[in-house]
Amino acid sequence: MSIVEKAAEKLKALRPEPQVSPPTAPQLDTKSSHSAPTVQRLMERGLAADQPAEAAPLWHVDKMALERMGFLPAHGDGDGERRLADEMRRIKRPLLVNVTGKGVKALAHAERIVVTSAGAGEGKSFTAMNLALSLAREPDFEVLLVDGDITKSTITRAFGLDGRPGLMDVLADERRQPAEVIVRTDVLNLLVVPAGERRPLIGELFGSRRMDAVLEGLGGRNRRRLVVFDSAPLLATSESQVLASYMGQVVVVVAAGHTRQQALHASLQSLSDSQYVGLILNMSNLPASENHYDCGYGY
Ligand SMILES: Nc1ncnc2c1ncn2[C@@H]1O[C@H](COP(=O)(O)OP(=O)(O)OP(=O)(O)O)[C@@H](O)[C@H]1O
Ligand SMILES: [Mg+2]
Repeated sequence: MSIVEKAAEKLKALRPEPQVSPPTAPQLDTKSSHSAPTVQRLMERGLAADQPAEAAPLWHVDKMALERMGFLPAHGDGDGERRLADEMRRIKRPLLVNVTGKGVKALAHAERIVVTSAGAGEGKSFTAMNLALSLAREPDFEVLLVDGDITKSTITRAFGLDGRPGLMDVLADERRQPAEVIVRTDVLNLLVVPAGERRPLIGELFGSRRMDAVLEGLGGRNRRRLVVFDSAPLLATSESQVLASYMGQVVVVVAAGHTRQQALHASLQSLSDSQYVGLILNMSNLPASENHYDCGYGY
């Protein structure tokens, strides 16, 4: 059997379940290469044949549903959207500098970025979502947005991926390949990993040796890929601190008038000096209809 035939066999075996198919044809930006025969595409792009997400149909992202959940600004190019886009650019720029190795210090796994905060409701998921979308517009990268908040699984619900295998399933079952739970969306350069089945002992699973292998599998072999995690609050659960410990870069959202100084201090204490920590002031004192961030980096 030729190498190409073997690759085709392997891909066939790894192809995800048929219900993955989107209910409607992709409507957002799509990669034209998806219509090419799988094996040819893999050969053209020089990708390993063990990346089933490459072969899976694109998952249709319902932008209107995301908006209804309050995650995306309204369509159009009004002041609010432009402002949010600009804020995201300011937030992502230092992160990208670190990813390209031009930051002030060398980071292990700068491509792994977690968005977290001290407490609940401070804007982690909103920021993770919009940061991921903004990063996905960078021509040199693709973005894997991982729902690391297993209990709330906000990202999973926002993308309509409830009930699909995700991070927890691949952590709990060593026979699963991390690539199996990656969902390639019809938003250009955006991939998503849902939270997966809720199980007990999340912190233990996050802290297990298997987590290293899973993180490697999700992003490690692909130098173009940025992996952005949404997370539970740092002070509410121990698993969010464990999750953060694997990351090269940590974005800490601070909600103006809400996050207590002591809580922020305790959150920062839980992070390591070897990580790059960015602080974002969210929900500053402006009208409720507007998006508002201010950011500063370092302690
Ligand atoms: N900068 C912002 N502009 C507009 N709306 C925002 C902004 N930040 C957060 N929100 C809104 O505030 C609410 C809470 O935000 P979000 O769900 O992101 O918080 P969270 O920290 O992830 O909460 P939890 O801890 O419950 O997961 C959401 O409705 C979100 O859309
Ligand atoms: Mg959240």
